[in-house]
Amino acid sequence: MAIIYPEVSRTFSEFLLLPNLTTKDCAPVNIDLTTPLVKHSKDKEPALKLNIPIVSAIMQSVSNDTLAIALARCGGLSFIYASQTIENQAEMVRKVKKHKSGFVVSDSNVSVNQTLRDVLAIKERTGHSTIAVTDDGTANGKLLGIITSRDYRLSRDPLDKKVEDFMTPFKDLIVGKLGITLSEANDIIWEHKLNSLPIIDDEQRLHYLVFRKDYDDHKANPEQLLDSKKRLMVGAGINTWDYKERVPELINAEADILCVDSSDGFTEYQRDTLRYIKKNFPHIKVGGGNVVDREGFMYLVESGADFVKVGIGGGSICITREQKGIGRGQASAVIEVAKARDEYFEKTGVYIPICSDGGIVHDYHIVLALAMGADFVMMGRYFARFDESPNKKVKRGNSYVKEYWGEGSNRARNWQRYDLGESTNLKFEEGVDSYVPYAGKLKDNLDITLSKIRSTMSSCGAKSIRELQKTARLTIVSSTSLIEGGAHDVILKESEY
Ligand code: IMP
Repeated sequence: MAIIYPEVSRTFSEFLLLPNLTTKDCAPVNIDLTTPLVKHSKDKEPALKLNIPIVSAIMQSVSNDTLAIALARCGGLSFIYASQTIENQAEMVRKVKKHKSGFVVSDSNVSVNQTLRDVLAIKERTGHSTIAVTDDGTANGKLLGIITSRDYRLSRDPLDKKVEDFMTPFKDLIVGKLGITLSEANDIIWEHKLNSLPIIDDEQRLHYLVFRKDYDDHKANPEQLLDSKKRLMVGAGINTWDYKERVPELINAEADILCVDSSDGFTEYQRDTLRYIKKNFPHIKVGGGNVVDREGFMYLVESGADFVKVGIGGGSICITREQKGIGRGQASAVIEVAKARDEYFEKTGVYIPICSDGGIVHDYHIVLALAMGADFVMMGRYFARFDESPNKKVKRGNSYVKEYWGEGSNRARNWQRYDLGESTNLKFEEGVDSYVPYAGKLKDNLDITLSKIRSTMSSCGAKSIRELQKTARLTIVSSTSLIEGGAHDVILKESEY
């Protein structure tokens, strides 16, 4: 007969934290959210750390270069999705590594032969009103002019007016030379009362635009996650079938860390992938997953994983439990794996960070996951709602939503990871295609989430994640107390939210 575990499998919403004594030095501003990202021994600092305990999911609808830049600037990390060609993924990684704070690669470009109609279409699509005119219409072509909304009058100018006839031509532009610092660029911007400064190389090719509003950029992001060369950090997902081609390209593109993206990591395919990386690229850090128990965790640790991702079936778009009957309540999974990790640490002196992946619905769930022993969390739905995610924003009824689809859905099927490489045809779906409410800019939302995390930790009397893991006290809630937890027995006033 099968083994039947006596304990039920629990989710985050079944738990609450009890407050501990909040000492005066435990104010939210004093709370340290840095956390280890990779394996390290007791007496050593981890080679890689996060400044906030949050990473974004390895998903087509979540982690592209734009989101990765926005998140790293706030102290977290994205794992660029692997369900795309190796070239495209490596290019996204490169874009993050090349990103220079305040130096923006122009995303709105035209060539001289295009028309005002094209300019307006680009403006509508990107929301940006500074448009570069280059010889080939690309972001790195030879700069021939710039268009801003001051260059045309919609009431007078015909839509088929040629770009060439209304752009500000190169000879009238003030430009900066590639290599200048942000502060030098800003001096030029102020001196000449410009809104933006194109940065070009010796061949007049466009590299960046510097905008006046980005002046205080670095001051606004003191927690940004940087590598040793002061570039933003970025991770990349990999799969268990094309890793021999994909991994070298991602390393070439200078990804800071890799993670095997698989719904079930307790497999020989995953072990082979991890071992291949450790043997051929011993300096490269790689996470493994997903697992939900001690056995899975130990298997990945012994295979060489630098961190282990926990969670099966808890993702918001996930129907793995319905389709395959496999999974575990996210809280139970994190608690068991964290226990195994702590015992392993006691025994060997080696600490393996764990990542709670999927099923975060409320901000306080992040603190619960950390209290239960996770070192950081991975989220998909959370990030899919923001401007920076790669998915489409659409209007439904009176509100805006963004698309969000699972990596195991038909939509992502060409790159599915669920057949473990044996076939490229998905026979059944493990994820759905859905909408999530649009929520605006990543930073605005993340700032609120982080202040809630700090405030909860302050109530728990924990100044660091490590301290929270050691001292937090959790209680299981009954279904009746769940009702008590929301607003109840009052008549709510109408609210837009
Ligand atoms: P969320 O934050 O609750 O939306 O969960 C995101 C996580 O769901 C991802 O990091 C993956 O581990 C998992 N996931 C992504 N796509 C699928 C899918 O199609 N089926 C099942 N799980 C998925």
